[in-house]
Amino acid sequence: MADAATVSRFGQFGTRSKHIAAGDCVIAYSGPQNMTFITVKAGAVFANSYGRYPHDSIIGVEWGSKHPSATGRGFIHLLWPTPELWTLSLPHRTQILYTPDISFITSFLDLRPGVKMIEAGTGSGSFSHAIARTIAPTGHLYTFEYNADRYEKALVEFQEHGLTELVTLEHRDVCSDGFEQRDLVDAVFLDLPSPWEALEAAKQTFKKHKTGKICCFSPCVEQVLRTTAELQKQGFVEIKMFEVLVRSYDSRKTEVRPLPTRADEEQRRHDIGNKKRKEREAAASSSASDAANPAKKVATEDGSVKVELAEEKVDEAAAAPASVNVSQPQEVRTVREFTGLKPPREATGHTSYLTFATLLPQIYRGSDGEKINDESA
Ligand SMILES: C[S@@+](CC[C@H](N)C(=O)[O-])C[C@H]1O[C@@H](n2cnc3c(N)ncnc32)[C@H](O)[C@@H]1O
Repeated sequence: MADAATVSRFGQFGTRSKHIAAGDCVIAYSGPQNMTFITVKAGAVFANSYGRYPHDSIIGVEWGSKHPSATGRGFIHLLWPTPELWTLSLPHRTQILYTPDISFITSFLDLRPGVKMIEAGTGSGSFSHAIARTIAPTGHLYTFEYNADRYEKALVEFQEHGLTELVTLEHRDVCSDGFEQRDLVDAVFLDLPSPWEALEAAKQTFKKHKTGKICCFSPCVEQVLRTTAELQKQGFVEIKMFEVLVRSYDSRKTEVRPLPTRADEEQRRHDIGNKKRKEREAAASSSASDAANPAKKVATEDGSVKVELAEEKVDEAAAAPASVNVSQPQEVRTVREFTGLKPPREATGHTSYLTFATLLPQIYRGSDGEKINDESA
């Protein structure tokens, strides 16, 4: 416990270089649903279903390049790791927050450069990476994780990604042991199974002379009810709950065939008429030998026997005059291609409910800086 580790500013994710170097975290991008990260190491090899990519061939390559596999048959794009790409490629140790929820929370918690905030639990560090960028360069994120293995792994990631000056990760059970921070933060984010158990302690961490914001992320509505009851008990106001649902669209190339012209239509009627006439002639010659029987038995492909009346009803199309001039010069009309939008068959569904609340200043100061009341006393 209290095994605190302060791990540099928005490190590799924030420092732009032109070329990839050993030690860099690179997003190996093969498509929107197909990306993973590589930590570049001399002598190592990255392989995916499109081929093998020796890290030595990646070192010194420009960020964003389309990079061929060893055989030249496959390729990947070598992308700079933004928090959004990291979220889509990170190793999952838990359920994680995705960009739609993260951006909503960022807005409603009023997160920006300079903000100090608390997060619990750290989980897979998806939210932590996004917030580190938002609050950089002068803010700070205090994040807590009680699972030892997840704590260790998150610590290594924060160090490798150079987040040491922005993020403090602590191995701690915040529900039983609370937080040591006092009168320090602007915002709190709780992604815990029972956030209501940490609310009283979380309240102590807010700056006393400023308005604070809190958000609890819970998948079930029963959790929301317990959280809102406790928020009220702790004196939070403006309690609101939201669910962020996303509908994405794929852009697809589609072919559009031109509408038929009058000449096309005449040609079609003419072809049908010819076909029907030939069928009638064929039927007439075979029925001459079977004149006594007006009905004809025809064997069908599936082996059954179909009875056809000798006298057919004449199709309207068949009545089209055979003299229609169909050899008029045709206007040259090409199939056009255009890019359209299509929603996916299955839209991404519920992730969690976001419960927000506000904590009003507990200490109001007069214009001379003198305390005029202390609600927290
Ligand atoms: C769903 S995950 C958080 C995922 C994270 N928001 C992300 O985007 O990657 C919840 C984490 O909270 C941790 N946790 C649960 N109860 C805790 C507690 N009382 N104190 C600290 N961490 C806790 C769990 O171990 C788990 O790693």
